[in-house]
Amino acid sequence: MSSSVNVEVVRSVPRTVEAVGLPVATSGPVPRQLGMSRATLAAHGFEGKPGQVLVLPAVTGATPIAIGVGDPGSLTANGLRSAAASLVRAAGKRATIATTLADLEGVDAKSAGQAVIEGALLAGYKYIGLKTDTSGAATLTGVSLVVGDKRSAGVRAGADRGIVTAGATCLARDLANTPPGYLTARKMAERAVTVAADSGLGVEVFDKDKLLAMGCGGMIGVNQGSVEPPRMVKLTYTPRNPTGHLVLVGKGVMYDSGGISLKPSDGMHAKMKMDMSGAAAVLGTMSALKALRCKAQVTGYLMCTDNLPSGSAFKLGDVLTFRNGKTAEIHNTDAEGRLVLADGLSLAVEDGADAIVDIATLTGAAMAALGPKIAAVLGNDQPFIDQVKTASQRADESLWQLPLAKEYRKLLDSQVADMKNVGGPYGGAITASLFLNEFVGTTPWAHLDIAGPMDVDADDGWLSRGATAFGTRTLIELATTFTR
Ligand code: BES
Ligand code: MN
Ligand code: ZN
Repeated sequence: MSSSVNVEVVRSVPRTVEAVGLPVATSGPVPRQLGMSRATLAAHGFEGKPGQVLVLPAVTGATPIAIGVGDPGSLTANGLRSAAASLVRAAGKRATIATTLADLEGVDAKSAGQAVIEGALLAGYKYIGLKTDTSGAATLTGVSLVVGDKRSAGVRAGADRGIVTAGATCLARDLANTPPGYLTARKMAERAVTVAADSGLGVEVFDKDKLLAMGCGGMIGVNQGSVEPPRMVKLTYTPRNPTGHLVLVGKGVMYDSGGISLKPSDGMHAKMKMDMSGAAAVLGTMSALKALRCKAQVTGYLMCTDNLPSGSAFKLGDVLTFRNGKTAEIHNTDAEGRLVLADGLSLAVEDGADAIVDIATLTGAAMAALGPKIAAVLGNDQPFIDQVKTASQRADESLWQLPLAKEYRKLLDSQVADMKNVGGPYGGAITASLFLNEFVGTTPWAHLDIAGPMDVDADDGWLSRGATAFGTRTLIELATTFTR
């Protein structure tokens, strides 16, 4: 995990580092320390394009690694994050690296420091879980950012921010990667209590009796088939004179079997331990706010339960009553995420939120529409959705907006309740959002459907195989820039 990586900002490359990453653009001068001309680099197939790396033989001490950064005039913070990730991957088992990446002109020092550290720490992440052979564990222990005097204060400030955002992301990754038997709703709530204590948050845990008493029928209904009780966790971050109140609601389905509408036993099923990725992203986000001196008040809800079939499970045809009094007829127990979110969204409105974001591995339809790298965003307020999009661009987490198409609302019409919990076979990401829309009233709201990018099959830049914690850095960016 990233917390064990030592980050320093220094003037020159420390003698002891095992690798030095030196940026090379597609034109312009080549760093002298590489000891190679552009022509020689090109002869090795290295042209300085983004993503290219060339590990050179170490003459004395550290291994020089050329890192392509592309067109020198169009360097971005997102490009630096990726370049730093490429460096860490190229460095392999070398545990201590130095780089001058954050010293490049074109990106302000603070953004550069943050991006480089995020890229390095996130690429350095590895989940080895319960392996008895720990030789494959993460090896990165030190990152030295080599920068000139002019930029060093800015880079240091950015690096400190990157340590926090990467740490929050790795926390969320760890949680989502954890096998479901090791991370029940109760365990998740315990972790949240620890995180709250460590990061200056208020925390309240709601057990089954409390949820019943509060009328959280979505949580109770989904949990009905499980022997493990549900937990809802409310985390609060309350700065002085807040600039606004943002409420985050995360889907925390600890394991989604589909319930009575059982999923098939294919590879997809084993991934359903990650169906709490939304709640993990919210917990990760909350953990970062105090350290980043977030100016907005932020409340986070983790809606935790698993979804299992049994003699006591909720059934097709059952009607659930949610916290806001609305009712839904169940036509598919596998459309459970919206049911637990419904209670959380109702509570967010009651809290007097200025804006609400929910984040959930909600529909295969979002994944079918946008693929594994892009999450869907839908909502009821374009200026707020635009705030979320801006935050996601800074985090380099791709969002694409789908329409909250009211003309599809009738697909949810029910004979016996206010709505059904599923629409027709098409537009599933939209009908799911129309369901959620019933619980937000007129509060500005954005819904992130992260089913597609919740995980990756192989290491890819700053994404490491397994859970991605997608949305964590977007939400941190949103919260720390949020105004009413
Ligand atoms: N957790 C799943 C969605 C999902 C699928 C997340 C694949 C990540 C990867 C969700 O609870 C679900 O089962 N959704 C159903 C809804 C349908 C029954 C309307 C789906 O998408 O098939
Ligand atoms: Mn499901
Ligand atoms: Zn689910």
